[in-house]
Amino acid sequence: MSKVVLITGASSGIGEATARRLGAEGHVVVLGARREDRLAATAKAIEADGGTAEVRRLDVTDRRDVAAFADEAAERHGRIDVIVNNAGVMPLSRLEALLVDEWDRMIDVNVRGLLHGIAAALPHFQRQGSGHFVTVASTGAHQVVPTGAVYCATKYAAWAITEGLRLELDPAIRVTTVSPGVVESELADSITDPGAREKMRTYRANSISPDSIAAAISYAMGQPPGVDVNELIIRPARQR
Ligand SMILES: NC(=O)c1ccc[n+]([C@@H]2O[C@H](COP(=O)([O-])OP(=O)(O)OC[C@H]3O[C@@H](n4cnc5c(N)ncnc54)[C@H](OP(=O)(O)O)[C@@H]3O)[C@@H](O)[C@H]2O)c1
Repeated sequence: MSKVVLITGASSGIGEATARRLGAEGHVVVLGARREDRLAATAKAIEADGGTAEVRRLDVTDRRDVAAFADEAAERHGRIDVIVNNAGVMPLSRLEALLVDEWDRMIDVNVRGLLHGIAAALPHFQRQGSGHFVTVASTGAHQVVPTGAVYCATKYAAWAITEGLRLELDPAIRVTTVSPGVVESELADSITDPGAREKMRTYRANSISPDSIAAAISYAMGQPPGVDVNELIIRPARQR
């Protein structure tokens, strides 16, 4: 069955791969991020393959913007079936570097952005009596690493918020946390700290394709209504 799927952070990496995969599977994908040109290029590729994709500039740190993103899609299609709360940033550094603005940005995008996505979609899911929240967390939601104190904290928070949502909601609304390990994407480009940047270069040598995460999201979405895939961790086989 074709679903209406909202994807935040769809302009690169995991969000883009998820949009392409779900678009190819016949779902209507609604792509949000700040880089509209990148969204438009992805939508064009999806449509060239016979899929349906819509794009909208979106800043997940702006609660009203995220609400409008969901409301406009619901207005156009009469429903929203899935929201993939994927947008994230990872400017890693040791705490002693005191890159406080970067800590704030991670909290704003990775935690507040997720909450804004939940707040935007939940009224629609409740009205419909169905829906599916997918949170893209991280293996950083399960393990803290040096330089990752704040990033991992935001991902522990994403895990906790999503688990709380699952426990509280009517079982007709499904909730999935997908936690990727090291995946090829532009995520490490946000690192400004020279030490953390160098460490990441080695760490990311064994990364896997974002298609593996898109496949996991597709799997969770494809289960019958009574089946809720709550959590998936997908790492490169070599990652420890
Ligand atoms: N790659 C990995 O190794 C890995 C591992 C574990 C978890 N993750 C998680 O996977 C998710 C996707 O990351 P990725 O690896 O695919 O990295 P990416 O290629 O850098 O993608 C991040 C996406 O987030 C969007 N974004 C950032 N700030 C935003 C904002 N304020 N409003 C809206 N969109 C925003 C970016 O779009 P714009 O800049 O165009 O707005 C981009 O589309 C993140 O939550 C990340 O933490 C990634």
